Amino acid sequence: MGKLDGRVVIVTGAARGQGEQEARLFAAEGARVVLADVLDEQGEAVAKELGEDRARYVHLDVSSEDDWTAAVAAAKDAFGKVDGLVNNAGILRFNSLVDTPLDEFMQVVQVNQVGCFLGIRAVAPAIGEAGGGTIVNTASYTALTGMAAVGTYAATKHAILGLTRVAAMELAHNKIRVNAVCPGAIDTAMSNPSQLDPTADPTETTAALDELYRKLVPLGRVGRPKEVADLALFLSSEDSSYITGQPFVIDGGWLAGVSIF
Ligand SMILES: NC(=O)c1ccc[n+]([C@@H]2O[C@H](COP(=O)([O-])OP(=O)(O)OC[C@H]3O[C@@H](n4cnc5c(N)ncnc54)[C@H](O)[C@@H]3O)[C@@H](O)[C@H]2O)c1
Repeated sequence: MGKLDGRVVIVTGAARGQGEQEARLFAAEGARVVLADVLDEQGEAVAKELGEDRARYVHLDVSSEDDWTAAVAAAKDAFGKVDGLVNNAGILRFNSLVDTPLDEFMQVVQVNQVGCFLGIRAVAPAIGEAGGGTIVNTASYTALTGMAAVGTYAATKHAILGLTRVAAMELAHNKIRVNAVCPGAIDTAMSNPSQLDPTADPTETTAALDELYRKLVPLGRVGRPKEVADLALFLSSEDSSYITGQPFVIDGGWLAGVSIF
């Protein structure tokens, strides 16, 4: 028996990285998964690999109301209902606050913050109709602390925790639990852009990242996307049946304290 047997879950940003691992793990645990992204070719390929009885790909720009309406309709059309959502899509831009152009700030807000809001607004009614379910939002350790050079990103991730808490309170009566994952440094294209370079050796680039985080992170390495998927699975399954409205930090201990060595 899988932990998500009978469930139908939309995962945004599922073409690669953490979202891809979440889609793969959820499908392996019995869910039918709707993979949503703007990277159509990659998303289609992952869905195809998982098989038509398990997965569908939809083009979804999370900042578009119309795309959300279409994605929920496509999920219901394919699998009859929706009772889970992982709001995973996100973007990161590096800049000091005083150097950040307004359009860059707004672009990050549109994807990370508005995308999460629209996802909750579009999918919660369908989850309610299905008799209840789960929403997992993807925040960050920068939702709980500051970090220079990623002020816009950190602001949107703090906002996601606000949305998570309010949604948990407002949707509990519909039997919808809403929680957030707060990853530290995870080995995806976001933290490791060399993953996008086909000539780079992934073993080498991961080893270089591990070396970088060896001193920063108590567990001494960068996190793996599958580890975040495991947490999203916990928060989407009955194993977390009495948990809602909470941020879950998954960062190898980075936020545990200040290190002097
Ligand atoms: N990698 C890290 O170190 C890290 C740390 C903390 C939080 N996060 C968060 O985890 C989530 C997943 O990121 P990742 O690490 O897998 O990085 P990633 O860049 O590999 O994946 C992000 C995915 O989101 C998709 N996406 C971007 N804009 C979109 C849009 N407008 N609509 C739909 N999809 C869109 C991308 O195409 C991509 O598939 C993000 O929310 C990110 O902020 C990542």
